[in-house]
Amino acid sequence: MGKKGREVVEKAGVKVDELINMLKKAYADEWIAYYYYTLLAKLVKGLESPAIASKIEEIAKEELEHQGELADRIIQLGGEPPKRFEDLVKIANCPYVTIPENLGDLKAVVKAIIEAEGCAIQVYTNILNWLMSIKNDPVTFHIVRHILQEEVEHEDLFETILGE
Ligand SMILES: [Fe+2]
Ligand SMILES: [Fe+2]
Repeated sequence: MGKKGREVVEKAGVKVDELINMLKKAYADEWIAYYYYTLLAKLVKGLESPAIASKIEEIAKEELEHQGELADRIIQLGGEPPKRFEDLVKIANCPYVTIPENLGDLKAVVKAIIEAEGCAIQVYTNILNWLMSIKNDPVTFHIVRHILQEEVEHEDLFETILGE
């Protein structure tokens, strides 16, 4: 735990436990997105599937990075990421990604990813708004802003692929 790091945030008036809770829920979302994306990349079928699979793997790698960034910040603030894997699904804001029945239906796959990214964008926007309303934790703000930017890029990438 970053003792002084937490203390300055607390002294600035931030409800640190409330913040840690939000970060833990987002942390769970990242693992779940990583899991589903990695699986989807392996399951997709059809002529165009290698290209789609490599794009899904690309964003999955970033979700894994987000997980790590959130875990570091939770620990710095004196919290702990969940120790039981099953708790991730229980606390997540976005607990699943739809796996289309027909995995050759790449449009449905891309739409499922866009939907999942939309959920992530909403989560990080809510955390940023909360942080902006208290204005006192620039370190978490920077991390969440950076993650939000990448989620927006993910959504945009798959919207471009969808071409609608
Ligand atoms: Fe992410
Ligand atoms: Fe994402």
